[in-house]
Amino acid sequence: MRGAFSASVLLIFTLFHSCQALESVSKKRQTCRNVPGSVDYPNAQAWSTLNTTLSGRLVAAVPSAKYCASIGGCTDAQWTSALFRNTIPGAMNQVNWEQGYDLKPPSLCLRNSTTCGQGDVPIYSVEAQTAGDIQTAVKFASTHNLRLAVKASGHDFLGRSTAANSLLIRTSNLKSLVFTDAFFVGNQNMGSAVTVGSGVHLQDLYVQSKANGKVVVGGSAATVCAAGGYLQGAGHSGLGPLFGLAADNVLEFQIVVASGDLLQVNSVSNPDLFYALRGGGAGSWGVIVSATIRTFPTFSGTFSLIEIGATTNAAAGALMAVHAQHIFDIEAVRGGQYFWLEKPGNVSVLALTTFTPNTTLDQGTALITPFLNDALAVPGVFLIEKQIATLNVNDALFMADDVVGTNQVMGSRLIPTAAYKDSNVATTVAGVYEDLLDGGALQILGNMIAGGQVSANANISSAVNPAWRTAKAHIIVVNLWDDSASAAEIAALATKFQTSQRAILERLSGPNAGSYSNEADSQEPEFQTTFYGPNYAKLSAIKSKYDPHDLFIVAAGVGSERWDKAGMCTV
Ligand SMILES: Cc1cc2nc3c(=O)[nH]c(=O)nc-3n(C[C@H](O)[C@H](O)[C@H](O)COP(=O)(O)OP(=O)(O)OC[C@H]3O[C@@H](n4cnc5c(N)ncnc54)[C@H](O)[C@@H]3O)c2cc1C
Ligand SMILES: *[C@@H]1O[C@H](CO)[C@@H](O)[C@H](O)[C@H]1NC(C)=O
Ligand SMILES: *[C@@H]1O[C@H](CO)[C@@H](O)[C@H](O)[C@H]1NC(C)=O
Ligand SMILES: *[C@@H]1O[C@H](CO)[C@@H](O)[C@H](O)[C@H]1NC(C)=O
Ligand SMILES: *[C@@H]1O[C@H](CO)[C@@H](O)[C@H](O)[C@H]1NC(C)=O
Ligand SMILES: *[C@@H]1O[C@H](CO)[C@@H](O)[C@H](O)[C@H]1NC(C)=O
Repeated sequence: MRGAFSASVLLIFTLFHSCQALESVSKKRQTCRNVPGSVDYPNAQAWSTLNTTLSGRLVAAVPSAKYCASIGGCTDAQWTSALFRNTIPGAMNQVNWEQGYDLKPPSLCLRNSTTCGQGDVPIYSVEAQTAGDIQTAVKFASTHNLRLAVKASGHDFLGRSTAANSLLIRTSNLKSLVFTDAFFVGNQNMGSAVTVGSGVHLQDLYVQSKANGKVVVGGSAATVCAAGGYLQGAGHSGLGPLFGLAADNVLEFQIVVASGDLLQVNSVSNPDLFYALRGGGAGSWGVIVSATIRTFPTFSGTFSLIEIGATTNAAAGALMAVHAQHIFDIEAVRGGQYFWLEKPGNVSVLALTTFTPNTTLDQGTALITPFLNDALAVPGVFLIEKQIATLNVNDALFMADDVVGTNQVMGSRLIPTAAYKDSNVATTVAGVYEDLLDGGALQILGNMIAGGQVSANANISSAVNPAWRTAKAHIIVVNLWDDSASAAEIAALATKFQTSQRAILERLSGPNAGSYSNEADSQEPEFQTTFYGPNYAKLSAIKSKYDPHDLFIVAAGVGSERWDKAGMCTV
């Protein structure tokens, strides 16, 4: 009797505890951020107090089309200008990321339309001017359990710098740019460097670097922010073969982490976070205030722009096969090249920009001529344009603005050097390009920006995906649509890389190739390995240390497997 009594007490006790355990498990499973209408969403007074603390730098964010409507319409030149769009806090450069296609019901704001939903545009933006503004905003988001988004330029190809019902921290106004001849990490002099705020555009960096007799490793864009997503992804550049990835050349970050603390991060101070911030993926670690990157003495080289047409998809495939056979032609001088194939109508156009450092015009011309002669011998292939000149490297990289304002998604693979050394490479490449074009691909971008020092830097301890160190090129397939596309057409394009194009590209890259997380498909099913290689477990541990409550969650970012696609509720 007594025994039975104790047993039932024990049972009740056990049940009670397992109910509590169940409850906390299900609570964990159902954790959601606060949105307007949630009991704990900040009230008007709380927002107003925040605005006062921020000296009035809290603004209501609106979709770019709504902003344009409010000023009587934007011209095509404005709509497609990254510089113009950067003046609109709610704008993304690829407009599809502003749309709430997945919201129920969908919430869209298309250009010139008479109705407009907020879509995936944040509710408010903190237009940060100082690290203190960022600290205030991070603490507010954390205290009130808000969905947080962080944006510098709004270029993100995976839409990671915007989120529905979120608070945005925008760092575009952090424009400081300071050069030094002796940057110290601890008591070690790391030499000449520049510290850039996270709102500094690459074009400003190239102009100021030239004025200081320097050059930095930067991308081929005007308005990408070096100290935003670029470095966190890895940062490729036409100067990569010469100097390594941009992430290989970072000396220090200043960053506000989830606790609201402003940290100095370098090889001696918070070295684990320093590891993660160089290649561990954009948007997952905190809000970068500035980054310090190595500078090199400026120099000149030969820069060429060549455009070649191909009348059929088979001719385009054969042209790309010739390109693959010549892909090592500029390796000895550690040159870099962007080669992109577009099919705007019936004819495909291959455009190539090539930079060969420290070469005279004759040397630079001699390096690209063998490819050009073989290419023009292919039936159905013809020359459209050829320009070649000797330029200062900063001028060669410089662009005034970026043309944006489209709807697009992409998928990509890093192509190993070994793939281009395979004896069947010509046949493989011809088939890959022809099949992608036959399948309706409109843009296939190629970045020949690895090898050389990118490979030689394999021993650097950072989160850069090791696939970079053995790669020769990064190939990206872009899928675009215009506002007349139906929801079904958009859904098909959004999954096209995974459903058909990836398998084609893998015939060249191999099945386990990596992908550059900044120019990629946010739907990669195994993003942990595809984007981060063997580094994911280490990155997850660093994430738990600096962001234990997942304040910084982005698509396909470290920790995102714990959250739904919108980053709104845990799964
Ligand atoms: C025209 C064009 C050319 C490009 N060329 C190159 C190239 O040559 N080489 C190359 O490597 N890449 C290139 N890219 C890709 C580029 O690296 C990515 O788009 C990158 O994410 C842009 O970073 P951003 O901060 O400017 O963009 P954003 O859209 O503002 O942000 C991108 C990501 O970084 C995060 N982020 C932004 N600011 C901060 C911050 N202050 N602190 C913490 N996280 C932040 C965002 O949350 C988001 O996850 C190009 C892109 C475009 C559109
Ligand atoms: C914040 O304050 C500024 C200056 O007083 C004001 O212009 C702005 O509209 C306010 N922001 C919000 C979201 O109310
Ligand atoms: C929108 O209107 C502008 C003029 O204000 C025009 O130039 C543009 O082509 C229109 N775009 C669309 C998608 O309708
Ligand atoms: C493309 O090819 C089709 C079929 O051969 C032809 O009808 C069409 O006029 C061509 N378009 C252009 C822009 O040349
Ligand atoms: C270019 O050549 C000069 C002179 O030989 C040399 O000092 C410099 O290091 C070279 N620069 C690069 C980037 O190779
Ligand atoms: C990597 O190796 C190079 C020489 O190959 C050396 O100069 C450099 O210091 C090494 N870097 C690290 C981080 O070990």
